[in-house]
Amino acid sequence: MTTITDTFKLNNDLLMPKVGFGTWQTRPGKETYDAVSNALTAGYRFIDTAKAYQNEASVGGALHDANLAREAIFVQTKLPAETKSYEGTLADFESSLKALQLDYVDSYIIHAPWPWREMGANYDAENREVWRAMQDIYQSGRAKSVGVSNFNSHDLENLLNWDGLTVKPAVDQIQYYVGYTQASIVTTAEAAGIVVQAYSPLATGGLLADPTLERLADKYQVTLPQLALRFIIQNGVAPLPKARAMAHVEANTKLDFEINAEDMAYLNKLTDKNGWHPVGD
Ligand SMILES: NC(=O)c1ccc[n+]([C@@H]2O[C@H](COP(=O)([O-])OP(=O)(O)OC[C@H]3O[C@@H](n4cnc5c(N)ncnc54)[C@H](OP(=O)(O)O)[C@@H]3O)[C@@H](O)[C@H]2O)c1
Repeated sequence: MTTITDTFKLNNDLLMPKVGFGTWQTRPGKETYDAVSNALTAGYRFIDTAKAYQNEASVGGALHDANLAREAIFVQTKLPAETKSYEGTLADFESSLKALQLDYVDSYIIHAPWPWREMGANYDAENREVWRAMQDIYQSGRAKSVGVSNFNSHDLENLLNWDGLTVKPAVDQIQYYVGYTQASIVTTAEAAGIVVQAYSPLATGGLLADPTLERLADKYQVTLPQLALRFIIQNGVAPLPKARAMAHVEANTKLDFEINAEDMAYLNKLTDKNGWHPVGD
């Protein structure tokens, strides 16, 4: 049975737990420290943060105090979306490692293909320059894998078709939840051996009161969030749920059940007609 510590194998053979713990909108200091400590106690071994979340130091503190072997935890952080230069990428990476108080991260990913204020703008040339730095970081051994986030098929192909490519992105972290599964990006990523990570797997809470999903969750005697997370795993994608409440953190680790093929097909046909789709950060 799949558990939160089962793994996906990345394209460089690194093992990544199938479920990560998200820390967006988790305030630096006690809130982040407690959330990450709770997550590690509950059994999560994959923590997702970002320089932009401004909570890397608190994530690092919780990791340090958990007294777990470093190699038992998969730590992922992100290059700010606004950083689009070779030197800037190296500098931001250094600052993230320092804040996390780590010698290496397991995954370092580009937060977005464009600065947030210019969502959708073309940064193809700059993204190749940034990727040159990401490859050098990977070769230094201080990031065990490198990847991207919010990259669509065009953005992925911009890197994959570049003659300077020596290291393929290992993951693409995209918004993904029941009703919003971004099939064309997933197809491009999977064809290139890139594992998809699902951010906002509960639609930032937007899914939580849906009566259709509630009924299906009842059938499996699980909660709606458990159904929504299990759906993602069975699609071969790694969900990154976020929760501050310990009851939620714990509930989201209980994913050892199987959604049958008919219900998976039904869930895969749902569309986001209810407007769950939140604005990503
Ligand atoms: N790469 C990107 O651009 C990007 C963008 C957005 C998110 N992300 C990543 O993805 C992670 C998750 O996405 P998200 O933060 O949008 O939220 P999410 O995981 O889709 O939903 C979080 C919300 O659901 C609630 N919740 C969680 N488990 C629950 C449960 N078992 N029962 C009831 N409520 C529950 C949480 O409540 P409480 O907190 O009150 O417990 C919170 O309000 C982020 O933290 C971040 O790491 C990345």
